[in-house]
Amino acid sequence: MTYYTPGPVPLYGPDFTDDPNAVYVRLRQYGPVAPVEIAPGVTAHLVTDYRAALDLLKDTETWSKDPRVWQETLPPDCQILPMMKWRPNAMFNDGEAHQRYRSVITDSFSRIEPHHLRRQVATAADQLISEFAAAGEADLVGQYARPLPLVLFNALMGMPAHYGPRLVTALTGLFESADTEVANKGDMDFEQYVTELITLKAQQRGNDLTSWIMDHPAALGPEELVNQIGIAMAGGNEPTTNLISNALSRMLSNPDYYSTLTNGALTARDAINDVLRNEPPLANFSAHFARRSVSFHGTWIHANQPVLVSYHAANTAPDGLPAHSVRSGGGAHLAWAAGPHACPVKQPALLIATAAIERLTSHLCDLELAVPRRRLTWRPGPFHRALAELPARFTPVCADGAGTTPGTRPSSSPPPEAIPTPKPPVGFATAPRKTPSSAP
Ligand code: HEM
Repeated sequence: MTYYTPGPVPLYGPDFTDDPNAVYVRLRQYGPVAPVEIAPGVTAHLVTDYRAALDLLKDTETWSKDPRVWQETLPPDCQILPMMKWRPNAMFNDGEAHQRYRSVITDSFSRIEPHHLRRQVATAADQLISEFAAAGEADLVGQYARPLPLVLFNALMGMPAHYGPRLVTALTGLFESADTEVANKGDMDFEQYVTELITLKAQQRGNDLTSWIMDHPAALGPEELVNQIGIAMAGGNEPTTNLISNALSRMLSNPDYYSTLTNGALTARDAINDVLRNEPPLANFSAHFARRSVSFHGTWIHANQPVLVSYHAANTAPDGLPAHSVRSGGGAHLAWAAGPHACPVKQPALLIATAAIERLTSHLCDLELAVPRRRLTWRPGPFHRALAELPARFTPVCADGAGTTPGTRPSSSPPPEAIPTPKPPVGFATAPRKTPSSAP
């Protein structure tokens, strides 16, 4: 077969941000592996084919996750480094070192009881909803989906609540890789947060993730500790935000989910499955480096050069199955990657996203988009599929002060089974809308 061969295709510009599917169509013309530019002047290869992606993700003999030889070839202030440079954590190591780091993550997260996690999500959700419920409108990215995982992680890690906003600013900056200065500052601020967290827990352990990670039999050294906590929070935050907001944007713009939020046929979990397949929160990642020069699915890859996997492209054209179909149950997809480095926190992440959406829609059951979905804007960057904003409106709801009534609006569906609400911290009661609603 003859493949298309002009130069690398940029993944950081407006073309990719506005219409990634069109760029993936173009990339597929190169065959299963295409040349891309992940930042100005930084080239890589991107796997767009499902089978080739699995071959790469599972073949640890040929591929390494260690970027150190490659990163030496980049300028030290390169904007891609905060996301891709080597660190002593699960993401960037192979073999036994990887196993050791990964076991710290899996063992520690497995100690969180699902019912406890649901309660923690509900607490974080209620706190955030109470901040905008009376306004009748909100940006569900900036005011909900972005801060929620961070408020939650801050609590799961055992930090006082007032540390939450610092985390939001630092990690938002780190993922804003289009601006080198902001990304580097976010990186430094985040390291500082984690250092303070460890200092606090070194003085007094608690029933929290940080203490479990510190006391894990792997006996992490100080730098390893910072980096394991770092990957759990930085690695988990951005994709969870995107999973929540991308799913919400689908629910709010598709009458199959509800004609009002409480009587549709499809559920939050259906929206999440739809996103995982058709718009994965982490769109392109799994950077691997060839241990030696190799021909891979028809493309010559030089030793130590980066090859990334497009979960999005691989998912949306797997073996000729139609793209963009809502499939109950989700089916096979690569949104969590595959092989030894597949996301180790998949079940908790699914629980967090589902509970966050259900909590929001049970409080604000007439939520609707304030602009048509096609006019929503997306954040630039090669790695994530992230809404910049998700403007929504709803009937204003006032805190009732009693602390016991999550929502007094009549509802045709039972409260979400997933979220026990013994005594939520904030109660709400409906208030009249300030502005009349009009269809988007
Ligand atoms: C509680 C939230 C989450 C946490 C703590 C978390 C943590 C992690 C960690 C530690 C890794 C590295 C594993 C390794 O290299 O062995 C990882 C990998 C990964 N995670 Fe998650 N994650 C979370 C949520 C998500 C979500 C919502 C998605 C997207 C649906 C996601 C997708 C991935 C993918 C694709 C990888 C592979 C990345 C690579 O190898 O480059 N994660 N995650």
